Amino acid sequence: MRTSPGESCVFVIFGGTGDLMRKKLLPSLFRMEQNGALTRNCQILGVARDRALTDKLFRAWARKALADLGFSPSDPHWCDNCLHYQAVESGNEEDFSALAARIEALEGKLGAGARRAKPSAASSTRRAKPEASTGNRVLYLALPPMAFEGTIESLGKAGLNRSRGWTRLVVEKPFGHDLESALRLNALVHKYFDEAQVYRIDHYLGKETVQNLLAFRFGNALFESSWNRDHIKSVQISVAEQTSIGSRAGYYENTGALRDMVQNHLTQLLTLTAMEVPAAFAADSIRFEKVKVLRSVAPIARNAIVLGQYAPGKVDGKKLTGYLDEPGVAKGSRTETFVAVRLEVQNWRWQGVPFYLRTGKSMPRRSTRIVIDFRKPPVALFRNVGRGPHRNILAINVQPDQGFDLSFEVKSPGDRFSLRTEHMQFRYPEIADTLWDGYETLLLEILRGDQTLFVHADETEASWRLYAPLLRRRAAPHPYAAGSWGPEAADTLIEGTGVHWTT
Ligand code: BG6
Repeated sequence: MRTSPGESCVFVIFGGTGDLMRKKLLPSLFRMEQNGALTRNCQILGVARDRALTDKLFRAWARKALADLGFSPSDPHWCDNCLHYQAVESGNEEDFSALAARIEALEGKLGAGARRAKPSAASSTRRAKPEASTGNRVLYLALPPMAFEGTIESLGKAGLNRSRGWTRLVVEKPFGHDLESALRLNALVHKYFDEAQVYRIDHYLGKETVQNLLAFRFGNALFESSWNRDHIKSVQISVAEQTSIGSRAGYYENTGALRDMVQNHLTQLLTLTAMEVPAAFAADSIRFEKVKVLRSVAPIARNAIVLGQYAPGKVDGKKLTGYLDEPGVAKGSRTETFVAVRLEVQNWRWQGVPFYLRTGKSMPRRSTRIVIDFRKPPVALFRNVGRGPHRNILAINVQPDQGFDLSFEVKSPGDRFSLRTEHMQFRYPEIADTLWDGYETLLLEILRGDQTLFVHADETEASWRLYAPLLRRRAAPHPYAAGSWGPEAADTLIEGTGVHWTT
């Protein structure tokens, strides 16, 4: 159960009939409503280009989308009372004026709703003037990236960047295609909106286990005191996906794994793992420390990155399609579906500790983990009693099996003195029946006005700046069999360092 932010608002979703709305935003808003986390006075306005769509048809579309996902509304009137639709063509000034009028009309409805909820003697006997609503608005761009600029410009020109209450702009990933486009997009956003109004989404930040990195690191003196180069040998951050690109070639061909996963999701995991203790548990302090990490990363050497592309493979007798055979992929495409890269965070805490980032599609299973590889004890005390101690490994499982495993050495039971490795485990499902979907958390934080889980403009720019040279000089990807852990060349990246890719 989460508490509702309480304030009324109009929640405008551009891309209101798109995939993100259907698969994530609508079900998340619906679940929030069911759990009491959404204020009753939140009116949702879907915006899309389709002029044939009406409120009625939009609600029918939403009901079907929810039913297809297995939801059966306990409040059958939610769609009728809270969902609305407005047709808007990007760049069409009249459409944006009509949108502004529609938002105000809905705000009028919110005011009326508030009156109904609290009837006064006066309002029951005569027609009262509509009460001023709060004028709070969320403008959520659930759009393809090429539509961001036009929509932000139109919003600004229509004066929709300001209101009587608060106005929050939510921009979906990817934020820019490269450094230049990210700089341009930030400049345009800041032409109309203050940074304090902007919520850039990286859905990884909504995951319970990603937020837990802050709790785990800064809530346990045990770990924080050894979280540095004196005690840690290397760090691995892996996001392995079992799924292939499927039918997403249209998007993926121009993106590739470096842009799609590394520049954002893996880099967010990196900054949360490597950041210094923030001055306060507050958005500005936390985001400031994350940016500092990115600015400390040394330029990435040419031989510190390996790209891969999945080729046809076979798992349990089942044939898996290669990237080049996926529908919509260009003949001879060099788009990478796998990246392994070594980063050096050159600061007091991490000097000399390699950070290995790895991600790939069509891998043997889904697994997102951060593996902290601690150093061996400095003295070879157990030289004469069998094998020496293994290094302690802390594996933080982001998904699935959310939780962590810590390996440690114990004396083997019995007469002779020897060592063996044992494990301590924690699993989130043991303490919670359900973990919130990342989007629900993020939507709630937007409504609460807390920017901690959103990406600051400086972070987007620092991150693109880091990977820009790699994007400019991308080598041909190494093929790897679909269903395997990536190309062998990725092993050479960590060869000789005494670490292995953990699978
Ligand atoms: C998205 C990428 O941002 O994240 C997808 O565009 C990827 O390619 C997805 O599959 C992974 O998210 P999750 O939450 O399933 O790990």
